[in-house]
Amino acid sequence: MRNGTVCSLRGVGYTYPGALAPALTEFTLDVSSGAWIALLGSNGSGKSTCARMLNALLIPTQGSCVVLGYDTSHSGTAFEVRRRVAMVFQNPENQIVAATVEEDVAFGPENLGLESSEIQERVEWALGVTGLSEMRKRPSYALSGGQKQRLALAGALALRPLCLVLDEATSMLDPQGRRDLMRVLRELHAQGMTIVSITHNLEEILFCTEACILAEGRLAWKGTPMDLLESSGGSHSLEVSPFLELWRRLKREHFLGATIFPEPKSIAEALCRFA
Ligand SMILES: Nc1ncnc2c1ncn2[C@@H]1O[C@H](COP(=O)(O)OP(=O)(O)OP(=O)(O)O)[C@@H](O)[C@H]1O
Ligand SMILES: [Mg+2]
Repeated sequence: MRNGTVCSLRGVGYTYPGALAPALTEFTLDVSSGAWIALLGSNGSGKSTCARMLNALLIPTQGSCVVLGYDTSHSGTAFEVRRRVAMVFQNPENQIVAATVEEDVAFGPENLGLESSEIQERVEWALGVTGLSEMRKRPSYALSGGQKQRLALAGALALRPLCLVLDEATSMLDPQGRRDLMRVLRELHAQGMTIVSITHNLEEILFCTEACILAEGRLAWKGTPMDLLESSGGSHSLEVSPFLELWRRLKREHFLGATIFPEPKSIAEALCRFA
């Protein structure tokens, strides 16, 4: 494993018990420290399977998965991997385990066997980052879907992971909830968090450092978000928002790039201009 690599998948193959076809085949991916990688692809292309490898929820049937030096096929490594690589799934209901918001956030750090002052500090931080401090005493079941999703994120953050893996974690959120979560992710990434996010939404990849498209369990395409917008990569079952459609039309009609409206250096810069 190279220095500064958080997760390294090498020639990974995985077939679910009883499945006829492999979910991943010869899959190779390096997640560098500080990267934000978007995993894209159509339903059944293997994105969640790949995400579960990074968190040692699944172990490759071929090839290897090394997370921060721990080969996940070695026994006893899962605990070490999961405290460093935290996952947030699509459905927050499946991740909420305690009766109140703050108890739920404390659950992960408690399982790490930390001192109560450290647990308290982490809970405060995670609630603050996700904007849930005011709701700390609320019963978890009484939260809205979007608030539950933020609670799931807070629970993952309280582990103080080096890497966050988000498996369609924004798919149940309304546009405002999605924007709020994206803002949190951007802040975390700016502070050095490594992120792997699975999404069907093109706008969500704008701030990623690298996009990977999976097709039938294989890596079909890899590049920057800018490359993705400008190449056929954009046609891989991604939602194309009106903004992105406008972007493409402006490019096509040569409005972007003219002196009067110089081409933005990055999509993030373009978004800031439009915002
Ligand atoms: N528990 C399972 N048992 C058997 N096969 C499975 C299981 N989970 C996934 N698969 C199969 O593995 C392949 C990859 O599934 P995976 O869930 O990784 O895809 P995905 O890209 O996350 O899809 P989606 O966008 O629908 O979430 C699919 O063919 C799927 O049917
Ligand atoms: Mg999936």
